[in-house]
Amino acid sequence: MTQDAAQEAAALRAQLNRHAHLYYVLDAPEVPDAEYDRLFQRLQALEQAHPELLTPDSPTQRVGGRVLDGLRPVRHRVPMLSIQTETDTTEAGARAFDARVRRELGLAPDAPPVDYSAELKFDGLAINLRYEDGVLVLGSTRGDGETGEDVTQNLRTIGQIPLRLQGDAPPVLEVRGEVYMRRDDFERLNERQREQGEKTFINPRNTAAGAIRQLDPALVAARKLSFFAYGLGEVQGWDMPETHSGVLDALERFGVPVSSERIVGAGADALVAFHQRIAAKRDELPFDIDGVVYKVDSLALQRQLGFKTREPRWAVAHKYPAQEQVTRLNGIDIQVGRTGKLTPVAKLEPVFVGGTTVSNATLHNLFELRRKRARVGDRVIVRRAGDVIPEVVGVVPPAWVPLAEASPDEEAVVDAAAQVNPAALAPRVPYVPNFRMPRQCPVCGSAVVREKGEVNHRCTGGIACAAQRKQAILHYAQRRALDIEGLGDKLVDQLVDGGIVRSLPDLYRLGLTALAALDRMAEKSAANLVAALEASKTTTLARFLFGLGIRHVGESTAKDLARHFGRLDSIMDATEGQLLEVNDVGPVVAQSIHTFFRQPHNREVVEQLRAAGVHWEEGEPVAGAALPLAGQTFVITGTLPTLSREEAKEKLEAAGAKVAGSVSKKTTCVVAGAEAGSKLDKAQALGVRVIDEAGLLDLLAASN
Ligand code: IVH
Repeated sequence: MTQDAAQEAAALRAQLNRHAHLYYVLDAPEVPDAEYDRLFQRLQALEQAHPELLTPDSPTQRVGGRVLDGLRPVRHRVPMLSIQTETDTTEAGARAFDARVRRELGLAPDAPPVDYSAELKFDGLAINLRYEDGVLVLGSTRGDGETGEDVTQNLRTIGQIPLRLQGDAPPVLEVRGEVYMRRDDFERLNERQREQGEKTFINPRNTAAGAIRQLDPALVAARKLSFFAYGLGEVQGWDMPETHSGVLDALERFGVPVSSERIVGAGADALVAFHQRIAAKRDELPFDIDGVVYKVDSLALQRQLGFKTREPRWAVAHKYPAQEQVTRLNGIDIQVGRTGKLTPVAKLEPVFVGGTTVSNATLHNLFELRRKRARVGDRVIVRRAGDVIPEVVGVVPPAWVPLAEASPDEEAVVDAAAQVNPAALAPRVPYVPNFRMPRQCPVCGSAVVREKGEVNHRCTGGIACAAQRKQAILHYAQRRALDIEGLGDKLVDQLVDGGIVRSLPDLYRLGLTALAALDRMAEKSAANLVAALEASKTTTLARFLFGLGIRHVGESTAKDLARHFGRLDSIMDATEGQLLEVNDVGPVVAQSIHTFFRQPHNREVVEQLRAAGVHWEEGEPVAGAALPLAGQTFVITGTLPTLSREEAKEKLEAAGAKVAGSVSKKTTCVVAGAEAGSKLDKAQALGVRVIDEAGLLDLLAASN
């Protein structure tokens, strides 16, 4: 081995670890992926030539690793405890914790409030990461709290987990936190499973937990997992911060991911405010949480409070309503979508889940229903998380029903996922389905077909099918399309069922008299709707295109098309080859657009809509870069004084900018309004330019 090779390998490791941190934790890569790959391959080659150069913090170890026979037990140096749970989901839960802490600390009623750290309760799998001299040497699961399992090589596949800490790391530092799966990564995984006719996963938590305990690290690498730290295990030789929040700040500086959704606040009021603020944004978070966690911030006070058997007195988990529940599948309806897809929809015994009462949930398609071995009459698990529509994710096999079931009142309280014994999902009784897909569309009576290799059944009725017409109208009227306020599903039902509206252009022929004659339609709402229809006529090409409901043309494709071609006629007459030149348009999308505009009927609808007065500003065709803000990425945060976020976004996009949801080093500029939160902090931390609404308007005016 040459000295040079050793030096080069060390330099490559350092570079790659730094880029991994920028990419996975800060979401701010400095180099293109290809450059990362090049460095990676160079290191791999060096290590192959000189195996003695291989170190545990080498990024090449993120993908490697053998298939194990079993997981090795690991005894935790410091036990991994659990936290007491406060199940009163009202603010009383937070106040009770504060009162308990004050009592245990012997504080007088007029003593100043206690400082707390409030953070999210991530719904994943607890793990311990042991760093020695800054290098990740061991990663283990919680197990029973005393002894867990060595899952180091699986954890190494998670890009967000640093293999080496940054800066001056202490000799021993154990980081504790949660491995979880983001909802979008989970949805994508299930979407893929569904397309391939494979079994879908129940929820992100089970999927993450299952992955971490796999014996083959390659399987783990294929599931996209994430990590957040929330505490410490054993520590040696570190001059500890004095507060828990200080510890989290320090971990962040070591390059460990810590959620920015945390505060330090004084007394119960701060806890209540945090609980409420997070409840309001729970659905918008990119991952599942099952509550928030409050911790006494001062480590000295934590020591004073100590433990009660297996739980610290200084922390509590304050729950939110569960996102999964068990209920009964009373029946299965068929819903016909805009593209004719027939979706089996579960009619459920109403159940409170994820904060609302749910009585319908999707079953996706016939094959998924069969794979779950669901039968009408079964007890099923319903999941409602984020803005995803509620779905039936599994069946509770009769043999696995907990004893508590005896009392119907308790049914709704059981934690559904905890009951799913994977072994119980294996067939024990022959499955005899008691539901069939109809051969005729339940709405229009046209034939139902399923193409070879497709999992979905479709109605062949097309525009003749009232269900497809209704969905097409609702799609056209939605906020992100033509934005016709007041045109909801009840009204569309009436209009289509009554034969008043047969196609989109009919909407613009609706008069006050016709509307006011409808059931339950007050004169005032009729007038409002007429005004909304009139207002919708002034729109943008992108909204109009999106509103047409062309298969595979979502909002962002519609924007790309509008930007690229500038004029509707150019799009209508474009060849597939010309369509393929548009950013992000592939063969499937190009073909779909081309086919759509080859149908005389669709062209007719477009002409009639234009004749009714629907209009937009046509532009010149532009190849992305010609627009003044092309290539720039903006993030809008907080409440702007006059513009809604949607309006600001539209203006920016019209000028060629991209508008992103999160701040990274790639962000050109952040537009901040009142009560801008963590995004503004991050922008400042990264040195990203920040402007207010006035600044935005100046910028737009200048670039016009
Ligand atoms: S602190 C001694 N903080 O909840 C306190 N735990 O029952 C140790 N969890 O097993 C835990 N988010 O997996 C803590 N912000 C957070 C958490 C959190 C999720 C999990 C953790 C633990 C369980 C506690």
